[in-house]
Amino acid sequence: MQIVTSKDLLRGALSKYRGSHQTVVFVPTMGALHEGHRTLMAKARQIAGEDGVVVASIFVNPIQFDNPSDLSSYPRTMEQDLAICANEGVNYVFTPSAQDMYADQRSIIIDETSLSGKLCGASRPGHFAGVCTVVAKLFNLVQPTDAVFGKKDYQQLAIIRRMVRDLDFPIRIHGAEIVRHEDGLAYSSRNVRLSEENRAAAPVLYQTLLEAKQQFAEGKSLDEIKQIAESKIMDSGATKIDYLEIVNRETMQEPQSKEEPLLMALAVFYGDVRLIDNIEL
Ligand code: PAF
Repeated sequence: MQIVTSKDLLRGALSKYRGSHQTVVFVPTMGALHEGHRTLMAKARQIAGEDGVVVASIFVNPIQFDNPSDLSSYPRTMEQDLAICANEGVNYVFTPSAQDMYADQRSIIIDETSLSGKLCGASRPGHFAGVCTVVAKLFNLVQPTDAVFGKKDYQQLAIIRRMVRDLDFPIRIHGAEIVRHEDGLAYSSRNVRLSEENRAAAPVLYQTLLEAKQQFAEGKSLDEIKQIAESKIMDSGATKIDYLEIVNRETMQEPQSKEEPLLMALAVFYGDVRLIDNIEL
């Protein structure tokens, strides 16, 4: 595995794959890697096959954080991350600095203007513009044939699909299923910041989503499903529900009917830790 620390070195390292028929599969991350990322990398290896190339990036992207304390408290575990990448058969890991990634007077951002209106886009202004901008830059640098994103950030996945479609990136986007602890809590880099008590309470999020799916199948109304879910989560000792919504999972808009492909998505604070999760209904 080769560790590549700058844009120039990355261009040099990957130049031999340009114009070749080699499959190059890309997994962008912000580090603090866990089982969820392992799954993304394993999926990347599967798509690439034995002869293909897997490239991962580890870059805590400052411009997608709407809150400076969230950026400074974001876990950084580079050595452990590199060991995980090596274990998962990654060929190149790109670890640029923020100065290298962003020119001083950068003045172009990529802003998605429809799917980002609700959910995380509403509660974290500017977040998805930061994500789209960095992912577009990484796509230009790596020039992969394929890229893998997790379904835990379902809205992000939908927005990246839209960006690739609307800006004609010649890249296939793959979604990977959410990976959970045995008690149902979705793996997240933020879980390590939960107090013992909140860590014990947080699996209620997945239980609630499963019950909502069941209630949906039984024909309960969307409003009723949301109300039941909100009470269950607040009763578990959650500090605050940031959002809990049922949306069309392709457009991320409020559904007009129950026949549309639906997603229930939530963001909940336990203490100052914000957890997200979702389920396809
Ligand atoms: O999902 C993430 O970790 C980040 O949003 C991404 C896609 C690596 C962009 O910084």
